[in-house]
Amino acid sequence: MTVPVPALRLEGIVKTFPGVRALDDVSFSVMPGEVHALMGENGAGKSTLMKVLGGIHQPEEGQIIVAEVPTVMTSPLQAKSKGIVFIHQELSLAEELSVAENIYLGELPKRSFGRVDWGSLYAQTDAILSKLRVGFDARTRVGDLSIANQQMVEIARALTVDAKAVIFDEPTASLTDAEKVVLFDVISDLKAQGVGIIYISHRMEEIFKMTDRISVLRDGQYRGTLVTADTDEDEVTQLMIGRSLDLTRAASTHDLGDVALEVRNLSCGHLFQNVSFAVRRGEVLGFYGLVGAGRTEIAETLFGLRDPSGGSIHLDGKEIRITSPVDAIRMGLSLVPEDRKGQGLVLGMNCRDNMTLPQIGDLTAGPFVAEGAEIAIFDQYRDKLDIRTPGWKQTVGNLSGGNQQKIVIGKWLSMHPSVLIVDEPTRGIDVGSKSEIHNLIRELAAQGYAVIVISSEMPEVLHVSDRIVAMYSGRVMRTFTSDEVTEDNLIQAISGIASEQVA
Ligand SMILES: Nc1ncnc2c1ncn2[C@@H]1O[C@H](COP(=O)(O)OP(=O)(O)OP(=O)(O)O)[C@@H](O)[C@H]1O
Ligand SMILES: [Mg+2]
Repeated sequence: MTVPVPALRLEGIVKTFPGVRALDDVSFSVMPGEVHALMGENGAGKSTLMKVLGGIHQPEEGQIIVAEVPTVMTSPLQAKSKGIVFIHQELSLAEELSVAENIYLGELPKRSFGRVDWGSLYAQTDAILSKLRVGFDARTRVGDLSIANQQMVEIARALTVDAKAVIFDEPTASLTDAEKVVLFDVISDLKAQGVGIIYISHRMEEIFKMTDRISVLRDGQYRGTLVTADTDEDEVTQLMIGRSLDLTRAASTHDLGDVALEVRNLSCGHLFQNVSFAVRRGEVLGFYGLVGAGRTEIAETLFGLRDPSGGSIHLDGKEIRITSPVDAIRMGLSLVPEDRKGQGLVLGMNCRDNMTLPQIGDLTAGPFVAEGAEIAIFDQYRDKLDIRTPGWKQTVGNLSGGNQQKIVIGKWLSMHPSVLIVDEPTRGIDVGSKSEIHNLIRELAAQGYAVIVISSEMPEVLHVSDRIVAMYSGRVMRTFTSDEVTEDNLIQAISGIASEQVA
């Protein structure tokens, strides 16, 4: 009998960046037909390890062994030729090109005289897309697709290869539940075909549903491997952050203040209709619903990014009109957006400037920006949010995904808004920092902020909210107090089962 050989093995990998030892002697392997989770805090080195594997970064030490053959990876295209394919955390598609061109970039099918064979390119692409049950075709321009659909293009690209190993780096961060089902089917198919799969995610639920083993990195070091069926969330958390988490929430002890923001019968075309709610100072109001229920669109309307088609918005009892984000900020509203890459950050700019960007006006003394004040703000929120970076000069694009999200949160907190709206505040954030951010949200409320939290994660909404607005298909189905709400009645409300109630 032959002993099974790993599809892929990494041995003693070392990778440093200026000021950061991102990978410190890391070894790791994945067997054919295995789904192997890679976990660790934000900045632990997961994406870097995968970029070493994909030939994007060259390690200073260590070896990559593909099916027992030591291999030097020089570029993503070469890694692909060895059967190693990536679905990256930050999408890497050419927006101006079609779906088909993106999928077969560098290897377009050719006719004689080297002309691209568009007919077979589109046919091959559509065959793959039909497996993924997506609603676009080979000719669609990638820039016209939603983030979720762009993710599906990356997945389609992986399926064109006779893969030995496929790496998914936080693939579900922007997918709807229906899209997740398709993704998990794809993963199961690949597994059945004997492909080794590396799955990076902070979502414990998915990890326990999808994976066979879990390996953990911490501060760039390998911490161990657990068999998924024999472990639990607490053990994984311990290994990741060195402690257990207390997820129970202390009962609110502070009194609520006056109503800060009230919305009456607000509508925006077909996106949402007749939405009414009020949030008081000291209160956290949660918005829960499926992707597409209209929650993000409400936030965008409050922040002046969309024009309401009806209804009114009142701040401190006075009706207001918000026609732009500049208006919103001036009136004391802040929005931490859902899509940090598109709306929250300038990736080529350093950490400090990203954090203080919206308040440059306030910090400017005459023509000069008060640099000391900016650095002080950065330092304060770096400590508060535990942002891992060698210093404020670091380019935000070089931070790990979760640390980028923390910069966005810091940016809006530092403005001391009277109403803070956070949309999916912990997307891509590790379990330890997640509970810190939840505590921070509660703390802000205790200090008298009115906070609106939009989330697709039920435990998150239940944990941070004083009351929860349940939305379905652009409408408020019901507003729950924390005494009334249960998982069951919340699910019913967001599925459109419970009857509509006036809040
Ligand atoms: N190109 C780069 N230049 C400088 N530092 C980098 C670069 N890429 C990564 N780093 C640093 O290396 C460390 C590991 O980052 P990495 O992206 O691998 O973390 P991660 O485990 O994927 O985290 P997350 O869960 O937040 O995605 C971080 O401190 C990060 O800032
Ligand atoms: Mg990462």
